[in-house]
Amino acid sequence: MNPNEIYDPDYVAALFDRCSSSYRTWSTVASFGMVWRWRKVCVANIPNTTNNNGLFFDLMAGTGEVWPHLIRAYPKLGEIKAIDNSTLMHKTALTRLHQDRSHRISHLKANVLDVDLPANSADCVISTFGLKTFDIGQQTRIAEQVNHVLKPGGTFCFIEASDPSDWLLRPLYRFYMDLCLPLVERLFLKGARDFSMIGTYTKHFKNCDDFKNALTAQGLETHGFSDFFGCATGVYGTKLN
Ligand SMILES: C[S@@+](CC[C@H](N)C(=O)[O-])C[C@H]1O[C@@H](n2cnc3c(N)ncnc32)[C@H](O)[C@@H]1O
Repeated sequence: MNPNEIYDPDYVAALFDRCSSSYRTWSTVASFGMVWRWRKVCVANIPNTTNNNGLFFDLMAGTGEVWPHLIRAYPKLGEIKAIDNSTLMHKTALTRLHQDRSHRISHLKANVLDVDLPANSADCVISTFGLKTFDIGQQTRIAEQVNHVLKPGGTFCFIEASDPSDWLLRPLYRFYMDLCLPLVERLFLKGARDFSMIGTYTKHFKNCDDFKNALTAQGLETHGFSDFFGCATGVYGTKLN
């Protein structure tokens, strides 16, 4: 496989189409529930200057796993506009949307790299685990989109599973990501090698530093954070007036 192919938006969308039916269960079980904690950490790191009644964008929203956390933290929020380009993640999200909360959430199937977002419209942009499938050039494009869509004074927070380079137990972590997960997936998901790609993506992604630099280059105020020995890293900040 051409190494750049894994960053082709169509390749990534097809990968998540295949994962969509078991994504929620598999991501929770394979991370020992850490994804739940990290979505909560991401919401908790949204700067407290955020307009509570405002418009929130959820980029690479998947099936909307962060929405309950967001609505709990911002019970008066005006609207969530969620974006994802996998047809089946989008369909699953819509099914869940129709169950409740639908009046406050809209879900758009679009490629975040080329979707036309309304300038200066968002009070907050959030994204959980949506960065690792982008190379550095694409991350720069997402930083442009964040700067474009945010109102002056608007805030953002992103979190992503990362490679804990300084952690003593990193070899164990890599063993789990690179060997155990692929084996379990092959055994239980009919030989599939889709979720196991997370290991490949996180290894190449490393952490949120490049994305933080791309946001800073856009003129945004940025702060990095990390959780659980660097197994997740993130960046939050504000679009200055
Ligand atoms: C790991 S999932 C994260 C989903 C969700 N935010 C969560 O917390 O579980 C990454 C999502 O990013 C979406 N995605 C990847 N590339 C994208 C792109 N270019 N435009 C929009 N969505 C994209 C995928 O379809 C997938 O649903």
